[in-house]
Amino acid sequence: MRTGKSVFELEQEQLKTLPKNKNKESEKDYSTYFQGPSMIDGKKRKTVAEHIQYALENGFRGIGEGKSYHIMTYGCQMNEHDTEVMAGIFMQLGYTPTEVIEEADVVLLNTCAIRENAENKVFGELGFLLKYKRKNPEMLIGVCGCMSQEESVVNKILRSYPHVDMVFGTHNIHRLPNILKEAYMSKEMVIEVWSKEGDVIENLPKKRLGSIKAWVNIMYGCDKFCTYCIVPYTRGKERSRRPEEIIAEVRELAAAGYKEIMLLGQNVNAYGKDFEDIDYRLGDLMDELRKIDIPRIRFTTSHPRDFDDHLIEVLAKRGNLVEHIHLPVQSGSNDVLKIMARKYTREHFLGLVDRIKAAIPEVTLTTDIIVGYPNETEEQFEETLSLYREVGFDAAFTYIYSPREGTPAAKMIDNVPEEVKKERLQRLNEVVGEYSRKALERLNGQVVEVLVEGTSKRRDDVLAGYTRKNRLVNFKAPAEVIGQLVKVKITETTSYSLTGEFVEVVKNEKVEA
Ligand code: 5AD
Ligand code: SF4
Repeated sequence: MRTGKSVFELEQEQLKTLPKNKNKESEKDYSTYFQGPSMIDGKKRKTVAEHIQYALENGFRGIGEGKSYHIMTYGCQMNEHDTEVMAGIFMQLGYTPTEVIEEADVVLLNTCAIRENAENKVFGELGFLLKYKRKNPEMLIGVCGCMSQEESVVNKILRSYPHVDMVFGTHNIHRLPNILKEAYMSKEMVIEVWSKEGDVIENLPKKRLGSIKAWVNIMYGCDKFCTYCIVPYTRGKERSRRPEEIIAEVRELAAAGYKEIMLLGQNVNAYGKDFEDIDYRLGDLMDELRKIDIPRIRFTTSHPRDFDDHLIEVLAKRGNLVEHIHLPVQSGSNDVLKIMARKYTREHFLGLVDRIKAAIPEVTLTTDIIVGYPNETEEQFEETLSLYREVGFDAAFTYIYSPREGTPAAKMIDNVPEEVKKERLQRLNEVVGEYSRKALERLNGQVVEVLVEGTSKRRDDVLAGYTRKNRLVNFKAPAEVIGQLVKVKITETTSYSLTGEFVEVVKNEKVEA
């Protein structure tokens, strides 16, 4: 177990609230209860991660018999997948899932720290949960995910949300059985947040949410330290899973009938950089995975700086490697990119886009953009608009910059008024909408390949699925085609989705979309 300076600060503060008998316990004992996060320790990196095989100790088996759990997930796909792992652990312990929050014996909030509004939602929900806890004092409430890795959040929970029973970090997920057991035994809040690095834990159980598409982690953490971003602190250093573990997992999923894999990592293009014994990068991994008999493989999320030519070469071989790349650019201005510490220029990004388009002419590119960075000028913002047009992205996630405590950008003095930021976001979204609409319009009359996921959100008699380029398609067809690849002829387009007529089930050959 690791402890950092602020852990002791936290302990000092918290010892005051400990029952007397716990005060007498050895330092080692009480550190289990009060392992708090430290942003300073979060920045320290060792070179090689340990690879550890998870195994449930016998003492924990059955602790959830007759009990239920409910997990609320906020944020990115990495969090969604962590929820699948925690659900797997709960099931292994004997718990059953429940959708009715007030009936749950354990409620976990798997949180996101990327922007302030994500955090506010969680604090709102925690306030709400107090009502249930009053009705059922035996209910255990836990906070995990990225917010738990922030010192300020843990302090706020200790101060203002004493009905929370457990706080554990992104590096402590595999310790869920121990944390639950502590929480049952202790009258105090159990806090276990390791600040540094994190290891690579294999063999974790998973209760997957779907049976058609599956997430597979390929690496964890991020060493890029973009000046606005909290992720390198909350998710620890970059560490890659061994290729053989990833390949085995994808093979198993293919054998189980899954049709699409999303490979996950905060910065997947850094995959393999941390291996000391082999020279093996994302291009090599994709080259292996494309040989597996599964229709579609995607990855997210990319960093333009580490996107190398070997990867482009491999993606150009296509097959099950889809023609869609999510490539966050964040800004089109060199000055802003520099302040963001993105470590590439507009010209580098455009050069990369040219190389990708030359190798994969039908590629679709999507991106992430932040507007209203501290002191962003109108000209700098317009450079973002012009870059968007120059690349011709199909879609984008767009955000107003949100200061994150502990990051370098949060200390910058900002002269851009909130109304200006909002207005820039709106102007950017108009351009995004225009390009998205045009991209979809081009598909009118074409036949596309759709992986059918189920009925549409709004209508039970309409099916919905996604193309290889991740475009949503609604169409009518018999429910038996759910889970299959089908051809659909597009008859109607909007800014965000496509409507079409079912043609037939795909038999081995591929159509483009
Ligand atoms: N403010 C606004 N957007 C942010 N992102 C990351 N950090 C911040 C922040 N502090 C955006 C980036 C990233 C996406 C996942 O979230 O665009 O690519
Ligand atoms: Fe955050 Fe992505 Fe930059 Fe890493 S590369 S610091 S996750 S924005």
